[in-house]
Amino acid sequence: VSPGGAPYAPAVPGGRAFDGSAGSAARWLSELPWWWEAHYGDAADRVISFCADDGVALAGRRVLDLGCGDGIISLGLAHRSGAAEVLGVDLQPTDEAHLADMATAHGVEPTAPNLRFAVSGPEEIPVPDGSVDTVTAWSVLEHVPDFPGLLSEVHRILVPDGIFFVQIWPLFSSAHGSHLFPWIDEPFHHLRDGDEAVRARIRGVVEPPELAESVVDLYDSCNRVTLDELGAQLVRAGFFVAKVAPEADAIHVPAALQDASLSDLVVAGVTLLAVRQ
Ligand SMILES: C[S@@+](CC[C@H](N)C(=O)[O-])C[C@H]1O[C@@H](n2cnc3c(N)ncnc32)[C@H](O)[C@@H]1O
Repeated sequence: VSPGGAPYAPAVPGGRAFDGSAGSAARWLSELPWWWEAHYGDAADRVISFCADDGVALAGRRVLDLGCGDGIISLGLAHRSGAAEVLGVDLQPTDEAHLADMATAHGVEPTAPNLRFAVSGPEEIPVPDGSVDTVTAWSVLEHVPDFPGLLSEVHRILVPDGIFFVQIWPLFSSAHGSHLFPWIDEPFHHLRDGDEAVRARIRGVVEPPELAESVVDLYDSCNRVTLDELGAQLVRAGFFVAKVAPEADAIHVPAALQDASLSDLVVAGVTLLAVRQ
């Protein structure tokens, strides 16, 4: 139920979490002091170097940033990868005015001649077959309820041997897999407590209530894909999984999770390159 009392049905997975409006979880996160550098700097650089280390240059290529959200990574890629074109697409229109304001506030050129944005459907990306050299998806696939359809669409738009760069952090079964670490910084609470308790806890700690509902949508948008399932789905969709870098730190295994898969608990995230066959 919305703050006004009307029933709320999210139009897209994640609903208010990602609608980009002031007061949404995505906007709240993008205004955290570390967010800009983590995305314009670190994330964009990691895409570029993870590809370059395998001889995949983005310079002169057509790059599509799938699920670009606030567009900060797309801007970093447009400025520093040398790509001929960076097209950021998302289910929600990217707020380009807000992006430009944030860039200016950080002393960065707010636009780029090789950058544009478009709105996509859950399984429809608005570009022709075989028209993209590299697709990047940073922190996106873990928010797609069921992604074989989206993987087929990525396969459709890539050229043969085109590259799909995927980054996911955190995977649901890992310590911070609830995606709630800025508000509930307790490892594995979501696996121990279950969905209803997590939603109640969000509503108890996040203010104002409108932001709390958006954060509930953020939690509800998370799928429960494991690294093994991700790999299998990529192969099924016609990709060759070429390089995989796990993200894992030491964990303390809670008593309630002694029977869980240790590799699922410990692998917090992944960065990978898949090649379109
Ligand atoms: C956690 S945000 C990440 C945004 C951005 N990549 C970043 O790292 O800041 C996930 C984004 O994926 C988008 N998304 C979810 N499903 C999608 C789909 N099927 N196609 C395109 N975008 C999608 C959401 O709207 C949201 O903006």
